[in-house]
Amino acid sequence: MSKPRYRIVLTGASGGIGQALCRVLAPQAARLFVVGRQSPPLQALARQYADGVVVPVCGDITDPAFVDALAQTVRDQGGVDLLINNAGVSTFGSFAEMGGDRIAEMVQANLLGPLLLTQALLPSLQAMPTAQVINIGSTLGYIGYPGYAGYCASKFGLRGFTEALARELADTSVRVRLFSPRATQTTMNSSAVRAMNQALGSAEDSPEAVAEAFLRFLEAPSADFRMGQPEAFFSRLNQVFPRLVAGSLRRQLPTIRTFFSSPSSPPSTSPLPTTKELPL
Ligand SMILES: NC(=O)c1ccc[n+]([C@@H]2O[C@H](COP(=O)([O-])OP(=O)(O)OC[C@H]3O[C@@H](n4cnc5c(N)ncnc54)[C@H](OP(=O)(O)O)[C@@H]3O)[C@@H](O)[C@H]2O)c1
Repeated sequence: MSKPRYRIVLTGASGGIGQALCRVLAPQAARLFVVGRQSPPLQALARQYADGVVVPVCGDITDPAFVDALAQTVRDQGGVDLLINNAGVSTFGSFAEMGGDRIAEMVQANLLGPLLLTQALLPSLQAMPTAQVINIGSTLGYIGYPGYAGYCASKFGLRGFTEALARELADTSVRVRLFSPRATQTTMNSSAVRAMNQALGSAEDSPEAVAEAFLRFLEAPSADFRMGQPEAFFSRLNQVFPRLVAGSLRRQLPTIRTFFSSPSSPPSTSPLPTTKELPL
């Protein structure tokens, strides 16, 4: 007997991780709604797949009117059994100097958007025999990291939302889970972030590796998955012994600060740690 095919809403489908997810999910999909604000990359994505399986839906997930329209489109086309809240934005730098618009953008796209969209699609998800919401979190949804105060706030929030809704729907057919990549090679990360990751010895995954891990998680029973063994270890350590992690990050702080304002300059104010203390 052939496996049932997913009916999916994937946000942020035109981004680095989104496109890789689209590639691994399309063969398993009866319908894959790909969502983003810019139409051309979504149209290009849809053209790669035959039979109208991939359907572009262009709009801003932080706009309640768009979210309603998307939910209506999904209802009209037979509903969905998998929502992947993957769209997101990130700005790295000094919190004191960050524009309020950038902070608002992160909270709205990374947290408010997934909340609104999940709520709007819940009736459709609950109408299916089984369904899933998978939120794309981050290692930085477990570890507060200098330069990422706004981003961490949004991803910690998304993790709290995931946990609470999973418990609220525990006696229904809808599972709510969290998949958390570590640093990944996409344009979300500025040249300063890439230079900092290199200076600190932080591993970066390819979007394809993230998508393959996601596919395994999709079929697995676990409530969450964190990419990378050191990152998963440190995120657990941070929950149990936060002072240890704080101390490690305190030692890295002068290096991290070097990248706040100068996009790709090497650290000059302090020597690099001799051991890779906390690769994130
Ligand atoms: N890259 C990393 O290092 C990393 C690490 C951990 C977790 N993550 C998470 O992985 C997810 C994907 O990140 P990525 O690296 O693939 O980023 P990316 O390449 O910058 O892609 C982001 C995607 O989100 C869409 N998007 C952003 N704001 C939106 C909005 N308001 N409404 C609709 N779509 C919106 C963008 O499309 P438009 O611009 O067309 O709207 C784009 O398709 C994010 O949730 C991110 O936080 C990334």
